[in-house]
Amino acid sequence: MDKKVQELLNQQVNKEFYSAYLYLDFSVYLSDIGMAGFGNWYKVQAQEERDHAMLFLQYLQNNGVKPELTAIDKPAIALTDTKTVLDETLKHEQYVTSLINDIYEAAHSVKDYRTMQFLDWFVKEQGEEEMNAGDLIKKYELFGSDAKGLYMLDSELGARVYSAPSLVL
Ligand code: FEO
Repeated sequence: MDKKVQELLNQQVNKEFYSAYLYLDFSVYLSDIGMAGFGNWYKVQAQEERDHAMLFLQYLQNNGVKPELTAIDKPAIALTDTKTVLDETLKHEQYVTSLINDIYEAAHSVKDYRTMQFLDWFVKEQGEEEMNAGDLIKKYELFGSDAKGLYMLDSELGARVYSAPSLVL
């Protein structure tokens, strides 16, 4: 595998674990301020991000590359309210999309079609994650200012359950 592609894939293992850590931080904050349903939603999201990290790790191993595990940054976003969390989520997902695109571009430039095919799942996944983050913002803007609306929204998010990723390597 091309060195640059390898390096970016390895870096993505860390980035996905960081995403898990960031969303766990969001989950802890939201649960702490009494938004248990939102907290649950982000805890499930953290599990999905851990799965993403494991998929990148497995892909490297499947291609004979030994992954290198590096330090995961402490989540350092100052959380002041629920809306900040939702806005930061969309921003973060847009950033992750740019990272996936960068790896895709690097793979394309060296005709690494196998990696491009592997990344296709993530390209689609990022589309869904950006859409979900945007939807949450819209719902919060619509119902968040009304106590009953917020209670219903929190209950809806509390019903989210984890399911394993559809991509199996
Ligand atoms: Fe692993 Fe939320 O992207």
